Amino acid sequence: MERITLLSKREIEKMRVAGKLAAQLLDHLGPMVKAGVSTLELDKEAERWTKAHGAKSAPLGYQPEGLPPFPKSICTSVNEVVCHGIPNKKQVLKNGDIINIDVTLIVDGYHGDTSKTFLIGEVSPLAKRLVEVTEKCRMLGIEQVKPGARIGDIGAAIQEYAHAEGFTVVENFVGHGISTVFHTAPQIPHYGKRGDGKKLREGMVFTIEPMINEGKLEVEILADEWTAVTQDRKLSAQFEHTIAVTATGYDILTLP
Ligand code: MF3
Ligand code: CO
Ligand code: CO
Repeated sequence: MERITLLSKREIEKMRVAGKLAAQLLDHLGPMVKAGVSTLELDKEAERWTKAHGAKSAPLGYQPEGLPPFPKSICTSVNEVVCHGIPNKKQVLKNGDIINIDVTLIVDGYHGDTSKTFLIGEVSPLAKRLVEVTEKCRMLGIEQVKPGARIGDIGAAIQEYAHAEGFTVVENFVGHGISTVFHTAPQIPHYGKRGDGKKLREGMVFTIEPMINEGKLEVEILADEWTAVTQDRKLSAQFEHTIAVTATGYDILTLP
């Protein structure tokens, strides 16, 4: 199994620079995320802003083994899209939609990975509750993080709350170690049992990025080989932060 890299304080500060810029990009896009904008326009502005700030988009051309290169700079996942939605000129946001925008920036070789789900105009009470529950799932997961806690504690906290709210937790995609590499060990499932899995140690850096579904947890991949949708085509929401394990707890590296 792949080893888990422990980052030095100096390396974590570099992660924070990238993470902060990624969070600022989400904030920058916020006012544009309105009915009438296409997901391609969001992508173009993200790419422009990223370059203007001397950073690089990690998704653009990213090609895990066996997949075609991801063709755009950000992921835009609307309504039933769970993750990895590809920005498209024809996809125009409309009143009542929810959209997750996931940005990953590389600054000086280090990655900052964060995402948030936006509400477009007036969304249904159910959609609003799903988005609020998902953001709270992320925080409940983060609050488990400290040396000696187990990876399973994170997923358990997320899953218990999501289920109590009548929602399901996607299992096909997980949080991940991140540093100079986009996706590395450890895997951080958003489900699981307390006390299971590896012990967390100071210097570990990984994402927590729960995808929570309105209906069933199963996902399907579309013909483009990237877009993941709920099998039942019900809604899915997601929030992501990049987190470092500190001596006493956690440090959120993707704050603006
Ligand atoms: N940012 C996503 C994550 O949270 C990964 C996107 S890979 C891409 O891990 F190629 F689709 F961009
Ligand atoms: Co991630
Ligand atoms: Co991400």
